[in-house]
Amino acid sequence: MTQSLTIRRPDDWHLHLRDGDMLRAVLPHSARDFARAIIMPNLVPPVVTGAQAAAYRDRIMAALPEGADFTPLMTLYLTEDTDPNDVARAHAEGLIHAVKLYPAGATTNSASGVSNFDKVAPVLDRMAEIGLPLCTHGEVTDSEIDIFDREAVFIDRVLDPIRRAHPSLRVIMEHITTSDAADYVRSNDSGLAATITTHHLVINRNHILAGGIRPHYYCLPVAKRETHRLALRAAATSGDTRFFLGTDSAPHTDGAKLRPCGCAGCFTAPNTMSILAQVFEEDGALDKLEAFSSLNGPAFYGLPPNETQITLRRETPAHPTSIDTPDGPVTVFDPGFDLHWTS
Ligand code: DOR
Ligand code: ZN
Repeated sequence: MTQSLTIRRPDDWHLHLRDGDMLRAVLPHSARDFARAIIMPNLVPPVVTGAQAAAYRDRIMAALPEGADFTPLMTLYLTEDTDPNDVARAHAEGLIHAVKLYPAGATTNSASGVSNFDKVAPVLDRMAEIGLPLCTHGEVTDSEIDIFDREAVFIDRVLDPIRRAHPSLRVIMEHITTSDAADYVRSNDSGLAATITTHHLVINRNHILAGGIRPHYYCLPVAKRETHRLALRAAATSGDTRFFLGTDSAPHTDGAKLRPCGCAGCFTAPNTMSILAQVFEEDGALDKLEAFSSLNGPAFYGLPPNETQITLRRETPAHPTSIDTPDGPVTVFDPGFDLHWTS
């Protein structure tokens, strides 16, 4: 039985760090295991301009614990007013690594997102020209579409038309939750990839709803039926370079989760690597963990993999079940099984 596994240090290609007190509370948990992370721009107000991204990056750097080795890779929040020149400038300066598309109203703080996709065509053209990837929150928002179908419908109604209109645009379908999304990624040879979260490899919709409602498992896109979870496991553990880790670790206080209209998000930063090691081991794919968490992401983003390494050991980890913040406790994602890998 493998007792330890040394891999290049992983990166998190989709992370919510928030701001202020919450940023200070959650950042050390990502910086411990991850060398870099793509930082989501859905603050209130959102990170829309290069100047706002630079200021947010400075706040993240200032919140890092002493001696931490962590690089935030900034993104801009795409709006119908986004200026292609500002995007190109921020990219040329090496400040931003992607632009994030939220369909308006799709999820937490997405009110300034896009309703009319034609309006963002000039920005997407410029991004295609300069090789700056688009990260997508892949769910339609139409109230008549069932929430469990929103990702599959997004592919047909929004994503595929965007990719046809901008064939050289590089796109990352973020936090995919369906076999439809995994198949769509596989059906394209280049320029398209997907991130997969830790929690979507572990839970299906029964975990959220059967035998009682479990708000800490509620996230967006919502977890789907078991066949989809298994399709995600197969994609993540396959070694296919088009699939890589984006935790979507999204902290909300218990007060914000446990109320009549609770927030979407699972906080997985502290225990992701322990959970992933177990998931990959269960699927007989420990040798593919490095590709998923440390190699495929940088390759797609055109960055070198990390030179430093981490060693995972077969040892019961001591993760907190919840962390304290000045705004209240934030519950750490519970995978529902005992963990036996320590990072
Ligand atoms: O579960 C989620 N939480 N999904 C998102 O898309 C946003 C995120 C958040 O910001 O809380
Ligand atoms: Zn997210």
